[in-house]
Amino acid sequence: MKKENLELLEKYGQTHLLRFYEKLDEQKKDALEKQIENLDWGLFSCLDSDSTPSNKGNIAPLGALSVDEIEKKREEYTQTGLEAIRAGKVAALLLAGGQGTRLGYAGPKGTFNIGVERELYIFEQLIRNTLEVVEQAGAWVPFFVMTSEKNHDDTVTFLKEHGYFGYNPEYMFFFKQSMAPSMDFNRKLLMETEDRLVFSPNGNGGWFASFMRAGMHTKAKEMGVEWLNAFAVDNVLQRIADPCFVGAVIKHGCVSGAKVVRKVHPEERVGALCLEDGRPSIIEYYELTREMSYAKDERGEYLYNFGVILNYLFRLDKLERIAENRMPLHVVEKKIPYVDPDGTAHAPTEPNGYKFETLILDMVHMMDNCLSYEVVRESEFAPVKNKEGVDSIDTARKLLQENGIKL
Ligand code: UTP
Repeated sequence: MKKENLELLEKYGQTHLLRFYEKLDEQKKDALEKQIENLDWGLFSCLDSDSTPSNKGNIAPLGALSVDEIEKKREEYTQTGLEAIRAGKVAALLLAGGQGTRLGYAGPKGTFNIGVERELYIFEQLIRNTLEVVEQAGAWVPFFVMTSEKNHDDTVTFLKEHGYFGYNPEYMFFFKQSMAPSMDFNRKLLMETEDRLVFSPNGNGGWFASFMRAGMHTKAKEMGVEWLNAFAVDNVLQRIADPCFVGAVIKHGCVSGAKVVRKVHPEERVGALCLEDGRPSIIEYYELTREMSYAKDERGEYLYNFGVILNYLFRLDKLERIAENRMPLHVVEKKIPYVDPDGTAHAPTEPNGYKFETLILDMVHMMDNCLSYEVVRESEFAPVKNKEGVDSIDTARKLLQENGIKL
C-alpha cells in the first residue's frame, strides 16, 4: 500500500479497511487501493452540521403559470415546442440510477411490471409517453438514460430484449452515474466485500457531471440539442419532452422550467418551488414552517402551494456554465448491507449508516430563473415510490386506469 494512502486512512480513522488486506491476492489489493486512492475525503467534512446544505436563504413565494393560463395559450406554446423538437433541440433525460429501496423490488425500477392482466413495464409506459410526442412532432427525441454501476447491465439488457419498446435505438443513449461510499454512524467506511467498499449511486444531482464525463454532452451538442428534459423513472403518467411545456419555457424567456402540481394539503410532504434570495429554489416540506405552509395571498391562495414532481427542463448552455460548481452533498440515513471486520455479512433492518447524495433540486437553485409550470395532478403525477400506501403501485395503477390506460 502506498504511503500516502496509508496516511489518508490514518488521518481519517479508516485503517479498518485494511483488515483483510494481507490475505488478498495482488489484483484485489490493487483494486482496494484504487478505491482508497480515488475516495472523496471531502465527505467527512460534510457530516459536520455547518457544512451541510440545510441553511436556506431568504425564502419568498414563486407561484406558477396556472393550468388555466396555460390552456389559453396551449396552441401557441405547443407550436413553439414542436418547432424546437423538430429542429432536434430537445432531448429527454431519464434519471434511472436510483436504487428504489422503498419499492423493495430487486431489479431496476423501470423493469417493474405495473400491468395487471397484461404486461406493462414502467420503462415501457415512459417510452410510450415519449413516442406520442415523437409522433406528434414527426421527429425523434434523443433519449438519454442515466443508470448506475448497480443497474446498468440489467437496464440495457432489458430494454434491448424488449426492442426498446418501439423507440429508435439510434436515438437512445446510456451512461452511468458516479458512485459514493457509505459509512456507519461512527463515520467508519463500510465494506461490501473484503476488497470492496460499499458504494451507492451518488444521488440524482450529479447527472450533468456524469453526462459530461461519459461524452454525452458532446454527443448532444453534435445533434443540436439545446434543452434537456430531466425526469424521474417513477412517475408513469408524466409527459416527456412535452411540447407545450417546452414552448412555454421558451416563450417566457426562461433558462429552466419545472413542472409542478397543486398540493393536496398545505402540509403535504413535497418540495415546493419558491424563490431563495431571489433565485429559484425548492423548499422541502420539513423546511417550511407551519406559518409559511398556511400563508395565503390576497386571493386566498396558499403561497407555497406548488410541489415539484421531478420533471425539469434545463437549457444546455446554462448547465455548462454551472458544471464546475460543486453540488451540495446531502447526508441521508439508510439501511446499508455490509461486511463487518470479522467477515460476517449483515443486512440491517434499521438505518445503520450514512449515504451521500447530490440532488437535482440544487441545480434548479443554480439557474437564473425557472418557469413554474402547473400540470393537472390527476393526469400527470403517478409516482411509484412505495410498495403500499401513498405513492405506491396501487395508487399509480388506479391513476393509470383513470387516464384510460388498460392494465
Ligand atoms: P428517489 O428519490 O425516489 O430515490 O429518486 P431512489 O434511490 O430511486 O429510491 P429510494 O429512495 O431508494 O426508494 C428519484 C429519481 O432520481 C433517480 C431515481 O432513479 C428516480 O428516477 N436517482 C436517484 C438517480 O438517478 N440516481 C440516484 O443516485 C438517486
